[in-house]
Amino acid sequence: MLSPSHVSQFDSDGFVVLESLFSAAELAPLVAAATRIVADFDADKHRSVFRTDDRDEGRDDYFLDSAEGAYCFLEADALDADGNLNRDKALAINKIGHAMHASEPAYADFCRDNRIGDLLRALGQAEPQIRQTMYIFKQPGIGGEVRWHQDASYLISERGGVIGLWIALEAADRNNGCLWVQPGRHREDLREIYEIDWERRSGTLTTLNETPWTDNENALALEVPVGSVVAFHDHMPHFSSYNSSSRSRHAFTIHATARAAPWSERNWLQPRTAAPFLV
Ligand code: FE2
Repeated sequence: MLSPSHVSQFDSDGFVVLESLFSAAELAPLVAAATRIVADFDADKHRSVFRTDDRDEGRDDYFLDSAEGAYCFLEADALDADGNLNRDKALAINKIGHAMHASEPAYADFCRDNRIGDLLRALGQAEPQIRQTMYIFKQPGIGGEVRWHQDASYLISERGGVIGLWIALEAADRNNGCLWVQPGRHREDLREIYEIDWERRSGTLTTLNETPWTDNENALALEVPVGSVVAFHDHMPHFSSYNSSSRSRHAFTIHATARAAPWSERNWLQPRTAAPFLV
């Protein structure tokens, strides 16, 4: 599945694209499960917004608790000035996270597909352990921008210890908010780190160095058909734009480490009860 040139591209560029690795039929159970989770979600009870333009100051207990299950987060632009939903709930969710694999059979089954484990092993992980899963909607018209960042800022392990897999549940292009990357810049240092003080149950985003993020003219848009997988290094700068198109851009993401990789207590993501999810 992964040729030597794919592996060397991952090492040199910080990412690799596997086009159409999964069929739409294989992905249909993931979409169906998300539809059901959203239908069951009580938007009056939980009104937690996910946005990335506030230096993560909006993170709350609901966010921290989402380390252990399938929790729904709203789009900022799906709420009116009084904080009420301005559209149908199904078109208001930013994402579901952050442990779909631990709580929902459709995602557990998908993560256990041999292609996932084989891919992570081929990229160097011994005994891959799934740490985080998300279903990202990038809703038509309001899907929020995810600002430039490196995943290692939010998933603290050792350099290169976390691999991200981004799986296109729908075709992604620059108009509906595809991923953008900066090839080769995964070799640079970590720019920011988000750490939790568990006594206060509160996180802080600290700037480690002022290396500027690139503008989009110097970045690469990863326009991919449905079923494609983008694997990327935890220091790879990446971004996705606001989705002002009339099309959604659903994606499922997996973050994994080797079983023996360190996992900092300062990580916000702390599943306290679940056994390690090995693939
Ligand atoms: Fe990311």
